[in-house]
Amino acid sequence: MASNYKKRGVDYQHNSNMRTLPGHYYHSEAIYREELAKIFYKRWLLVCREEELPTPGDFQTVTIGDESIILVRDEGGDIHAHFNVCRHRGTRICMEESGQFENGIIQCPYHAWRYRLNGELRAAPLMTELEGFDKAAYPLHSAHVRSWGGFVFLNLAENPLPFEQELGPLLGKFSEWHLPELRIAHRLEYELACNWKLILQNYQECYHCPGVHPLLSKWTPFRNAVHDCMEGAVIGGYMEMTEKGGGMTMDGKAAAPPVCEVHGDNLQRVHYYSIFPNLLFSPHPDFVLYHRIRPLGVGKSKNDCFFLLHPDVINNDAHMARFQSAIEFWDATNLEDWQVCEQMQLGLKSRRFDRGHYSGQEDILFALDREVLKALGHEGDD
Ligand code: FES
Ligand SMILES: [Fe+2]
Repeated sequence: MASNYKKRGVDYQHNSNMRTLPGHYYHSEAIYREELAKIFYKRWLLVCREEELPTPGDFQTVTIGDESIILVRDEGGDIHAHFNVCRHRGTRICMEESGQFENGIIQCPYHAWRYRLNGELRAAPLMTELEGFDKAAYPLHSAHVRSWGGFVFLNLAENPLPFEQELGPLLGKFSEWHLPELRIAHRLEYELACNWKLILQNYQECYHCPGVHPLLSKWTPFRNAVHDCMEGAVIGGYMEMTEKGGGMTMDGKAAAPPVCEVHGDNLQRVHYYSIFPNLLFSPHPDFVLYHRIRPLGVGKSKNDCFFLLHPDVINNDAHMARFQSAIEFWDATNLEDWQVCEQMQLGLKSRRFDRGHYSGQEDILFALDREVLKALGHEGDD
C-alpha cells in the first residue's frame, strides 16, 4: 500500500505515531448518537439499486437511526425519498419494508391524509373547511436522492455536500462495467455484533489477509495492493491477481466472462473502494460486489453483500452454476472478516485498552479515523 497520500490537501505520511481511535469510540452511546447526527444524517448513503423499484408505486422504507424514509418511484419514473412522517400530527405512515402503493396514493393510517407519490398532499379530510388551510403547504418532507451507475443514494441533510464532489473520483472510472445495465444476481445478509467503523476499517487494509484469509491471499497477495484514491468520500485502490483470467472463487479461476467491456489491466485487478460512510464497492473483472452497511446501534451493524452481473449471465444456467464458486468464496471470506471484527469489538471494551498503533499497511485507516473525527468535530482527540 502507498504510504504517502493526500486527503483534502493534507499530506499523510506513515510514521510510528499513527495511533488508533480510543476504545470508547466503538462503545459510547453518546458518540454513536453524534455519529448519527453528524455523519449518517448528513452524508450521502447508499440505499438500493434502481432495479429494486421497477414500477411506479413501488416503495422501500429505509431506517437510518431514528429516521424512516420512504423511497418510491413516481408515475414519471423519478425516485423520491420522503420522510415517513405525516404532516398532520407526525404519525409514521408506512410500516412495511417494501411494497406497492395502490392507485398512486400514500395514505396515513390515522386520519387518512393522502399524499401523491411525489409527496404532494392530495386530500386531508375536513381540513379544507379550515380557513387558510392550503394543501400545497403540506407535502411530505423530502430528502435528496441521486443515482449513479444504477445505485440510489439519499441524503437527509437540508443542504448536502454536492454528490459529484463526494463521489467525484468514481464518476466515469468504471464505465467499462456498464454499471447501470447490471442486475443483482445474489445477496448475502449478515448481522454483526460490532460497530460500523470496524467494517470499514477491515475492508481498507490487507495486513490481516495472510492470517485471516489464506485463500484470498493466494489469489491476491497482500503486497499487490495499491491505494490510488483518497478524495471526497472515496477511499481505496486495487489488488492485482496473480493470474490473468483468475478470479475470486474457490479455485482461483474466473467466475463468469468479463463484465461488458472490461479489458486490459482491469482483467487482473480487484478494486476496493469505500464510499464513506456506508458503501463498500468492489468491481471485479467478472462481476461487481458491493456491501451496504447500516448501523443498528453502537455495537450492532447490518451488512448486506450483493453480487451484480449482466442479465445475459444471470439468464444462463451454466454461467450461474459456475458463479456459485464466487458466492461461496465471498461468503467464506466475509465470515472470516466478521469473526475478527466481532472479536475486536469485544477487546475494545477492555478498561486496559487505551489506543493501538497502526502499521504501515494500515495508514489509510489512520486517515479514515481523521475523517470521522473531523465529521464529529473531535479533532482534539487526535
Ligand atoms: S397523523 Fe396522519 S392523518 Fe392524522
Ligand atoms: Fe478481510
